[in-house]
Order: sequence, then structure tokens, then C-alpha cells
Amino acid sequence: YAFHILKGLRILEEELRDILNIKKVIIVPNSADSDPLVYKEMGKAASGYIDSLITEKSTIGLTGGTTIAQVINEYKYRKEKLSDVTVIPARGGLGKKVEYQANTLVQNLANKLGCNYKTLYTPDFLSQDSIESLLKEPAIKEIIELIEDIDILVFGIGRADIMAQRRGLSNEQIESLINKGAVSEAFGYYFNEAGEIVHEISTIGIDFETFNKIENIIAVAGGSEKAEAIASISKLNERLVLICDESVAKKIIFKY
Ligand code: BG6
Repeated sequence: YAFHILKGLRILEEELRDILNIKKVIIVPNSADSDPLVYKEMGKAASGYIDSLITEKSTIGLTGGTTIAQVINEYKYRKEKLSDVTVIPARGGLGKKVEYQANTLVQNLANKLGCNYKTLYTPDFLSQDSIESLLKEPAIKEIIELIEDIDILVFGIGRADIMAQRRGLSNEQIESLINKGAVSEAFGYYFNEAGEIVHEISTIGIDFETFNKIENIIAVAGGSEKAEAIASISKLNERLVLICDESVAKKIIFKY
């Protein structure tokens, strides 16, 4: 019985990979909508996959969010320290609960890997002037250089409306984003259905050009309400690897 379920999932993974036209899909059974344990399983699947990619000198970038927090929670401690590996946040960000901030997750993962890390405590919304002067600071420069070196990026996917609310945007700002067609959010960018950027939050961190150069880009997202957002993010890059749950996978395959 279990074998048949697994076989079904493997077929589903291939089907979704082809529909989204991305590199790889890993699906965990059941629905994250109704069962929090499914998030744990996504975390486990993602952490195992990430671990298989880490090499001696990897630079790993993380975003924040509840899903990536699960990935790091499920990560197993390494027996041997990885003294040449570095973990960094993909961008700054102070707006969220501390336990889900990229900086916190970075420290937790580095602890499990026994490796180096750097944090970036800058606000989510900065004026152009502040960005320019911060970029002159040696400590900030150093982390920007590390971000350009990321070879494994692990990020969450959000719905545009929900992320805009979470970031405390006003109703007018949210409405304007929706009017521009924003359906998804990832690493500070809002995208429309076609995967085109419609808005970028002004902060310090990864830019879209750098994102596209990263060798391993891994998105972890689940829950059927994220179907449209996941489909949008899948348009960004054909090298994307997606880890999701069965419910959202089926929703995308059967067209929302
Ligand atoms: C944010 C990431 O921290 O988490 C975003 O920067 C992502 O890329 C979001 O959209 C997703 O959050 P969650 O809690 O739904 O996993």
C-alpha cells in the first residue's frame, strides 16, 4: 500500500515538474492545509535534499518565514564541522517575528552544520539614501559580496496579498500591488502570474540578477492557497527545485 502511494507521488512529481518546466519537484504526502505535521515532513524532505548539495566550501543563503524555519528545525546536526562553509541571510529584514527571521534561521543552521555565518540586521524598508550610505559600510559590503557568492539558496514563497499584509503595507499599497497583478512574493520581490517583477522592496540583499546566477535554487512552499504563487515563482528560472505538499501539487496540476 505504502509502495503504491509512493509510486503515485513519484509520478505526480514528474508531472508537476513538466507542467512548471523546472528542474526538480519533491512532493510530500497529504495536505499541509489541515495537518501541521505535513510542514514538518516538507522540512525533512528539504533539509535532506539541501544536505546532499553542500560541498566543502558552500555558501548557503536563506530567507525567513515559517516554512524555512521548519526546514532548519528538521535539519540534522553534522558530526563533523564544516569549517569552510558559510550561511548568510539572502537579505536584511527586521519586520517579522524574531523566530522566523532569516538571521535567526542562519544562526540555527550554522550551529547544526558547525560552520561560519554572518547576519544582516537592516530594516525591510530603507530610503535610497540610506541604502547608498549603508552599502559603503565595510561590514555591509562584506555580506553583499558573500550574497554574490551564494551557491545554494533556500527560500520561501508567499502570496503577494498575505506578504504585503504581513509587512504592514497600507490598504492602498496592497491594492496598488494587486492592481499591478502581483500574485507571489519571494526574497523581497513581488511577481505577477507570468513571473515578471511588479514591485521590489527597498532593502539590502539579494537582487534578481544575482538570484538567476545561483547554481542551486530551492523553494519550499506548501498549502493549497499558495498554488498560484508557486506557479508564478516557477516561471523565474528553469533551474528551480520545488519542495511542496501533495495538496498544492494537485491544485497546480488541475489548474487551481
Ligand atoms: C519570507 C521570505 O520571509 O517568507 C519570502 O522572504 C517568503 O521569500 C515568505 O515569501 C514565506 O513565508 P511563510 O511563512 O509562508 O513560509
